[in-house]
Amino acid sequence: MNLDGLNKVARAMVAPGKGILAADESNPTIKKRFDSVGAECTEEHRRSYREMLLSAPGVEDWIGGVIFYDETLRQKSGDGVAFPELLSRRGIVPGIKVDTGAKALAAYPGEKVTEGLDGLRERLKEYHQIGARFAKWRAVITIGENIPSAFCIEANAHGLARYAALCQEADIVPIVEPEVLMDGPHDLARCEAVTSAVLREVFGALARHRVAPEGIVLKPNMIVSGTECRKQASVDEVATATIRCLKRFVPSAVPGIAFLSGGQSEEEATAHLNAMNALGPYPWELSFSYGRALQASALKAWGGRKENFGAGQKAFAHRARMNHLARAGHYRPELESEAA
Ligand code: 13P
Repeated sequence: MNLDGLNKVARAMVAPGKGILAADESNPTIKKRFDSVGAECTEEHRRSYREMLLSAPGVEDWIGGVIFYDETLRQKSGDGVAFPELLSRRGIVPGIKVDTGAKALAAYPGEKVTEGLDGLRERLKEYHQIGARFAKWRAVITIGENIPSAFCIEANAHGLARYAALCQEADIVPIVEPEVLMDGPHDLARCEAVTSAVLREVFGALARHRVAPEGIVLKPNMIVSGTECRKQASVDEVATATIRCLKRFVPSAVPGIAFLSGGQSEEEATAHLNAMNALGPYPWELSFSYGRALQASALKAWGGRKENFGAGQKAFAHRARMNHLARAGHYRPELESEAA
């Protein structure tokens, strides 16, 4: 393991002003996204849609890393350049999702545990050869009546830590993603309590598994009200609670925290990130690793049609730039109209 190298890659992924594009939707997930805009889910459509995002003019100023799915990591641009190479030429770090999904946790109804450790050492070796320099593993924690259980949190933290240790052994930076879902009627305080318990367990497990905090990126949820909570917290309340929680549980040696969007709208996710960065500075970079909140308008503008390639790129570049501004606390909602 080359810790200096890992730290350098992690810092490039979340360099000041930059964040990560999560374009690692599995084929069933991207099908759902394509269905929502009436685009057919063929391999060529998946390839050309990703090429549209990766080749959007200017994005190297706002995007430091892109997470791929196995199929996408092996695809090429229309003129024959492998996607990882396309990114590296623009100074963007290519990464790969390596978990194989969150499955029902036996004997714990309503709870999940993430799979994908079997054969991971060998897969990481191959991914490194193809050009991946970081990886992602997503654990899912559900809030409900009497859940999450302590055991579910422990099982997921254990999985994340084993994955992270294998990544560092392979000189691949692990994105450690424990996602507490937004679904449900719970309030902001409950989200904070559960996220706190999860982060405490995750960092305990990482330490026991001898994972170096300097060589990871944390990808947490923000502390938000549940989607069905009657009183939705304000942007400032979200920012204050999220920062309080992260300061308590994330070691300052971690180079970067890159939030997932988790079902927030594009503008909400940007406004929250902006409010947090406006309250900074922090010991870690406070960045984004959005999937839906970076792609929703680009996907709509594209709609599965070649002739909309330029419009899709413009929509994606706008979103990336808004989040770039939010990285420094310089975003204002009025800037959204520039997209038109
Ligand atoms: P969202 O930002 O759409 O939640 O996706 C991020 C991600 O990579 C989830 O694993």
